[in-house]
Amino acid sequence: MFARFRRKRIHPVLRDLLQETHIRATDFIYPLFVRSGVGIKDEVGSMPDVFQMSVDEVIKECEVLKSLGIYSIILFGIPDTKDAIGSDALCEHGIISSSVKAIKKAHPDMFIVTDLCFCEYTDHGHCGVLDHKLGTVDNDETLKNLAIQAVIHAKAGVDMIAPSGMMDGMIGAIRKGLDSAGFEHIAIMSYSTKFSSSYYGPFRDVAESSPSFGDRRTYQMNPANRQEAILESLADEEEGADILMVKPALAYLDIVRDIKEHSKLPMAVYNVSGEYSMLKFAGRAGVIDYEKVMMETMMAFKRAGADIIISYHAKEVAQILKNNS
Ligand code: PBG
Ligand code: ZN
Repeated sequence: MFARFRRKRIHPVLRDLLQETHIRATDFIYPLFVRSGVGIKDEVGSMPDVFQMSVDEVIKECEVLKSLGIYSIILFGIPDTKDAIGSDALCEHGIISSSVKAIKKAHPDMFIVTDLCFCEYTDHGHCGVLDHKLGTVDNDETLKNLAIQAVIHAKAGVDMIAPSGMMDGMIGAIRKGLDSAGFEHIAIMSYSTKFSSSYYGPFRDVAESSPSFGDRRTYQMNPANRQEAILESLADEEEGADILMVKPALAYLDIVRDIKEHSKLPMAVYNVSGEYSMLKFAGRAGVIDYEKVMMETMMAFKRAGADIIISYHAKEVAQILKNNS
């Protein structure tokens, strides 16, 4: 005798009945890149179908997203001017602050998440203020600025804050800053386990955030480390994170499962720019069936344990789900 698994695979209806994992449009957060100006919608070569947009275009884009059933976006700002500390992110009239206000006004039903970091705002492109003696980011000085930045986002009307800088103690510092300013209700989704990954390459073109010297290995994690990956997320849970994250996603599904097994918190994965562009360009070259590979990849994220998927594919996925419903 042997097990007859195929009995359950013959009828398509039974196959559906037995499907363990499902994807929905509401699983997704869609990343958007906002810059100053009017009527700007510039595609970036390294990420087909991804644009730098002015806020009026972002507002139009939200209309499209809602029609597809996506009500959640994560915003990245591209400021007009950069300096050593990232002042644009620390002022109430900066690109993110003004964009959040405008988007909320036009779309009160949209759930707005902001990426909280300094690499897009500093002239050196690192994720905080520099300690020149150490030659890298000054952790504790950056914590102070992160708390200020978080309160600015909260005042602008953001719904959830996603700190991505991998500073030690960032969740505690941001939580304390938000709470003491009366924003206890704003959730924090931590980029809790973020690796120093070459998969971020295309993003840095879109966000104009490449470091001007060195790399991010003094704050982002070594891709070789599994035990430390779990510790990083658990520390953020301890400090008060509401949602944990693993980033990148595709090459790190073992880590997603590991953290899922160690924490009861909801988990997000960030399906990053390099992962996106690999599928896009392979699809365009006719090497893979782009839509099928994309859907299979999204399913894998959820099967691994992700509750939320942050993905540049979100619109296309939602369109397919809509067509099939
Ligand atoms: C900023 C940030 C990065 C990404 C999200 N937030 C870039 C980085 O750490 O260099 C990467 C996203 C992607 O590759 O799609 N800290
Ligand atoms: Zn950063």
